[in-house]
Amino acid sequence: MEFDESGSHDGTPTEARLRAGIEPYHRRMLAVYDWLVLGLVCRWVWRCPRSKMLAQYNSHVGARHLDLGPGTGWFLDECRFPTANPAITLVDLSDGVLAGTARRISRYRPVTRTANVLEPLDLGAVQFDSVGMNFLLHCLPGPLDRKAAVFDSVIPYLADNARIFGSTVLGADERHTAVSRALQRRLNRADSFSNETDRAEDLARALAARFTEVEISRSGVVCLFAARYPGGVS
Ligand SMILES: C[S@@+](CC[C@H](N)C(=O)[O-])C[C@H]1O[C@@H](n2cnc3c(N)ncnc32)[C@H](O)[C@@H]1O
Repeated sequence: MEFDESGSHDGTPTEARLRAGIEPYHRRMLAVYDWLVLGLVCRWVWRCPRSKMLAQYNSHVGARHLDLGPGTGWFLDECRFPTANPAITLVDLSDGVLAGTARRISRYRPVTRTANVLEPLDLGAVQFDSVGMNFLLHCLPGPLDRKAAVFDSVIPYLADNARIFGSTVLGADERHTAVSRALQRRLNRADSFSNETDRAEDLARALAARFTEVEISRSGVVCLFAARYPGGVS
């Protein structure tokens, strides 16, 4: 039987493959993540300083915000919300990630939900003005057209004119250096990343099939993206 990069023969991610995507985010890694990954690796290996992603949060984050895969919550802690009391929901497959981020931004009293973002979400009767998914797509198994299921997972919860935004490391990009390619291959071999075939064009197509005002920009091998959910004019 043939197995693809999602760990199964039919492209559906196996439990083991999904767990591999969150395995790096254990307590010890989370303790160094902000300076090691967001500080050093982002800037010097992927060549996208975290200030660019923070600027994206500051531009797009809304009063009712859903964050998928919040990691350590650095961006939520640092960004400027348009209100002093934003309503924030955090979704992650890792309970440790959710507990750590909820603690870090406890001043906002976030709601947490443990869930796989590739499956339909059960968030109740809520609507969001923004959805952030920073550095999430490259962790999700399968090719981009399958990981685009994450966009479908959030659509039932989007208010008119909601913004969807994030960034992801592209695997199939001519801007890779010897160093970034070596790290990217290593992370893919460990199943921490699954982005060998990810291209900006495919991401743009997946966004355009669902949303309007699609914006894509690049910094090194990172693709920053934003889009708007169709609705009335703001
Ligand atoms: C690279 S971290 C990104 C953290 C943060 N957004 C940032 O930019 O610093 C990826 C996050 O996605 C979560 N994650 C990975 N696969 C997931 C899945 N299938 N469903 C939900 N969360 C997932 C991980 O637990 C982790 O919190």
